[in-house]
Amino acid sequence: MLVLENLSCGYGPFRAVQSLNLKLEEGSVNALIGANGAGKSSTLMSIAGHVKIQEGKVFYKNNELNQIAVHNRIRLGIALVPEGRRLFPDLSVEENLKIGAYHKSKQRYSTNIERVFELFPRLKDRIEQLAGSLSGGEQQMLAIGRALMAEPSLLLIDELSLGLMPKIIDQCYEVIQELKKQGMTLLIVEQNTKKALEVSEQVLILESGRKVWEGKAEDAKNNPEIFEAYLGLSS
Ligand SMILES: Nc1ncnc2c1ncn2[C@@H]1O[C@H](COP(=O)(O)OP(=O)(O)OP(=O)(O)O)[C@@H](O)[C@H]1O
Ligand SMILES: [Mg+2]
Repeated sequence: MLVLENLSCGYGPFRAVQSLNLKLEEGSVNALIGANGAGKSSTLMSIAGHVKIQEGKVFYKNNELNQIAVHNRIRLGIALVPEGRRLFPDLSVEENLKIGAYHKSKQRYSTNIERVFELFPRLKDRIEQLAGSLSGGEQQMLAIGRALMAEPSLLLIDELSLGLMPKIIDQCYEVIQELKKQGMTLLIVEQNTKKALEVSEQVLILESGRKVWEGKAEDAKNNPEIFEAYLGLSS
């Protein structure tokens, strides 16, 4: 359903990602892993429409996305939880969620916000609180919640667990499991390789803007030397 064909993307003439081929099956959970600067965020942002495609093509549900603006990619079902969360700190939890559903009817908004509160009851308790005063974990929940308000079929999450306590990481991954059950397709950028492998079916490793390994999460789990080779760490 998502296909990257020979994708190069970047900033000005600089290619952050080069000749990337990728195919995500509908309803699959995929982990995108790589060292700092490998091009993980650039990949997600080019799919969402925030980073320029320099060469190659991106297709989603058979639509070529190259010339499609960010807001129309959202309408097609693509939502991004960006690195650093990018919430509006001076707006409340509810206002941040409203922004995620700006193109939805009142009725869809109500349905969607209830769904977000079911997944993250803590956000309901803090509905009036300013996003900037939430804890790191609550901010990540809000960032995911805001993306879900758009009713995506493909959710791109950049650095899901970065800076969060283990308990909160577990909660976020429970939500990922739930979204997976509901049939959502996910592409998750993670530093926490172990956690990512628990939920993912497919794993991709990027190094200096190029895909250097792709395979089943199970194979990656059974061959930790893969991670040592490409990331200098053990899973
Ligand atoms: N706005 C920008 N302008 C110019 N170059 C950029 C910009 N953003 C990222 N880059 C460069 O693109 C390359 C890939 O960066 P990217 O942020 O995609 O990596 P990443 O894998 O997400 O890294 P990290 O793990 O640190 O988040 C890096 O060399 C980076 O310096
Ligand atoms: Mg990044």
